[in-house]
Amino acid sequence: MSDDLMAVYNRAPIEVERGEGVWLEARDGRRYLDCVAGIATNSLGHAHPKLVAALTAQARKLWHVSNIFRIPGQEELAHRLTEASFAEVVFFGNSGSEAIECALKTARRYHVANGAPERIEVIGFSGSFHGRTYAAINASGNPAYLEGFGPRLPGYVQLSVDDTAAIEAAIRRPSAAAVIVEPVQGEGGARALGEDWLRRVRALCDETGTLLIFDEVQCGMGRTGRLFAHQWFDGLAPDIMAVAKALGGGFPVGACLATRDAAKGMVAGVHGSTFGGNPLAMAVAIAAFDELAKEETLAHARTIGARLAEGLRRIAAAYPDIVVDIRGKGMLIGVKLVPNNREMMAAARDQQLLVAGGGENCIRLLPPLTMTADEADEALRRLEATFAAARARLAAAA
Ligand SMILES: Cc1ncc(COP(=O)(O)O)c(C=O)c1O
Repeated sequence: MSDDLMAVYNRAPIEVERGEGVWLEARDGRRYLDCVAGIATNSLGHAHPKLVAALTAQARKLWHVSNIFRIPGQEELAHRLTEASFAEVVFFGNSGSEAIECALKTARRYHVANGAPERIEVIGFSGSFHGRTYAAINASGNPAYLEGFGPRLPGYVQLSVDDTAAIEAAIRRPSAAAVIVEPVQGEGGARALGEDWLRRVRALCDETGTLLIFDEVQCGMGRTGRLFAHQWFDGLAPDIMAVAKALGGGFPVGACLATRDAAKGMVAGVHGSTFGGNPLAMAVAIAAFDELAKEETLAHARTIGARLAEGLRRIAAAYPDIVVDIRGKGMLIGVKLVPNNREMMAAARDQQLLVAGGGENCIRLLPPLTMTADEADEALRRLEATFAAARARLAAAA
């Protein structure tokens, strides 16, 4: 490991060199079946020919001009996103955290524009993850990410998703600005919130004039088998939504989507980004959008997601000493374990299978949505082999 890098990551000891589809190749020539996909980002697989073509064609034309100028690609992608969602306006940044930052600022400015600047409180949930900026760590409230960075920012509360009484009381407070929630919690361990829960929160927000922010950075862009996870539920929509990750298929880009009304406080000069929505990012994101938003891509994700879930349930039944629960939605899958999840991620690497970690001692499977049925079966075989090896090790240690 290099001493020249800030030591903030616990990296797997693989030097990744190239990728194609669901496969990653390390410098030593080993090929890994990639069920991490850049943490739910390379949703079209590695080196997708249409993304490579879009990137290289744009690279020859124009990379960056800043938002001092009109950028046709931004207008094009914003149009696609608004056509495909509840949203009417879009702001482009470079990451999920920036999309969240914009969402939170948009919510607070909305109340200022309405003459209610006292409405500053952002209601979030334990087990959530919204990124690593100051605002994002305060919105998710995870003590592990807040510790050592000085006092918490004012105007953020976290509740348990199961505490319906506390949620109602918080939304009814005169200081409430917005509720921020992942329809399917990603980092927290692939926990899908139920339709009733989401509709109840939507109704309370409507009643009180509180804005509803969906963080679809991880669960959006086709990951669950719908373009946006909340679109599983007819007529249910947020006021503001953050997306990133698969939006660029691996190229850094994020977006904050909102209704025109929710964004009414976001006037010239109040927010910005030098790189946000630059021509390179837009070219790749448009190409990615056109693939991800296809009904055949989404239907394929639903089919492969169901195949993986079914296979995992079968494996779980055979390994009750290893697997506690299978959860998630579509191709955002969590496997809650008895043995330590970090150790199991390493054991999976021994089978040349890459899986992500997650809260509540889960491992997550977040493969490219383009994974074939054979590749899904191969991932299941490798995971089963991982569990068999873990069982043998546990027995030998007993
Ligand atoms: C739900 C969610 N929101 C926000 C973020 C932050 O995104 P980024 O790491 O691109 O800043 C993440 C990243 O994992 C995420 O999963």
